[in-house]
Amino acid sequence: MSTNTGAGLEDVVATNSNICDLDGKLGKLTYFGVDIHDLAQHSSFEETTYLLWHGTLPTQAQLEEARKQFIVQRTLPDRIIDIMRLLPSTTSPMDVLRTSVSALSAFDPHTSDKSAAANYQRAIRLTAGLPTIVASWENMRNGKDPVAPLQAHNHATNFLYMLTGNMPDDYAAHVLEVALILHADHELNASTFAARVSAGTKADVYASVTAAIGALSGPLHGGANEQVIRMLLRIGEPERAESYIHDALERKERIMGFGHRVYRTDDPRATHLRAMSEELGKRNNDTRWYEISRIIEKSVMEHKGLYANVDFYSASVYYSLGIPIDLDTPIFACSRIAGWTAHILEQYANNRLIRPRAEYSGPKVTKYTPLSERER
Ligand code: COA
Repeated sequence: MSTNTGAGLEDVVATNSNICDLDGKLGKLTYFGVDIHDLAQHSSFEETTYLLWHGTLPTQAQLEEARKQFIVQRTLPDRIIDIMRLLPSTTSPMDVLRTSVSALSAFDPHTSDKSAAANYQRAIRLTAGLPTIVASWENMRNGKDPVAPLQAHNHATNFLYMLTGNMPDDYAAHVLEVALILHADHELNASTFAARVSAGTKADVYASVTAAIGALSGPLHGGANEQVIRMLLRIGEPERAESYIHDALERKERIMGFGHRVYRTDDPRATHLRAMSEELGKRNNDTRWYEISRIIEKSVMEHKGLYANVDFYSASVYYSLGIPIDLDTPIFACSRIAGWTAHILEQYANNRLIRPRAEYSGPKVTKYTPLSERER
């Protein structure tokens, strides 16, 4: 048996995939060969999702059809809203998302149909429905009724509309759209791996996405963006940023939003988020969060040689859009659902149970002593 003692499986190739190519040395990221910079500049979330699911960019007619299917699937079954109403209003939005996705399986119109076509419909249903869950919860926990999804407009515009009940301005919708594209897939990150392990047992799409949401919620993965904005708020003023980082590193703390298991250079996704953070600051006449972020970025590079990752600038971007802090990670999920489902469909199409081994490091032989003879 070949062994790998690295507890985090770093650099272990665990599967073959056609979906996402990630070059950590060059800082290059592609979805089916299409550069993330091109997608960020020219694509839409719906088109990028189509690419992840089908492996090719859609024609105009295919894109229109996909948009229509998304719009239909934005509306949740009433009983999912009823289930959400049973949860305490203090429940974290990630927990609500995980619970609701799990519950959605009970309302699948064709539960026993495990065909590729039925699973594709589930991918659409979940990708279209996640923003409705997040936005509905935001309204419900504030004592309001959920806002019904728009029956037109793109995914990002509808999401921002459902959060507040007001139509967002074009730039805000553009920013969210680009953020959704940038987070849509990232090879075998922890949550996608969790999704594939689950799908590899032939568990259904809902179970696999539920596993992925659980993995995303941790602060070392998707939960990092929320921790970043909390840090920026603690720092408060650009003048305090340098000493804050210095002191935190002295205490051997991790600075959230920095470092990456694969990238050893600038994260290509951070480039776009950095620019949008600056632009949003200017438009809001409040560049504080961008300025603090820049100082932190410089300081962490000087002290630790670490680059900002995707979570660092997404934090100030979402905050500048007026999005409540604890929705940062659920929004990550609303984007990554595209990648999760693409990987789940790919896993089903060429499935083999994922079951690695552990290098046993416990005692070889331990005598069973009766309870009465054991020392306290
Ligand atoms: N802040 C401070 N130091 C960090 C760090 C951070 N964010 N990330 C890594 N390091 C340091 C480690 O302390 C370690 O230093 P040492 O060799 O002096 O002990 C070194 O960099 C290597 O770290 P390691 O934990 O082995 O890297 P990893 O590949 O396991 O970690 C992350 C990857 C993402 C988990 C890690 O960088 C991290 O915790 N980042 C913060 C959370 C975050 O932003 N997550 C989102 C990822 S997209």
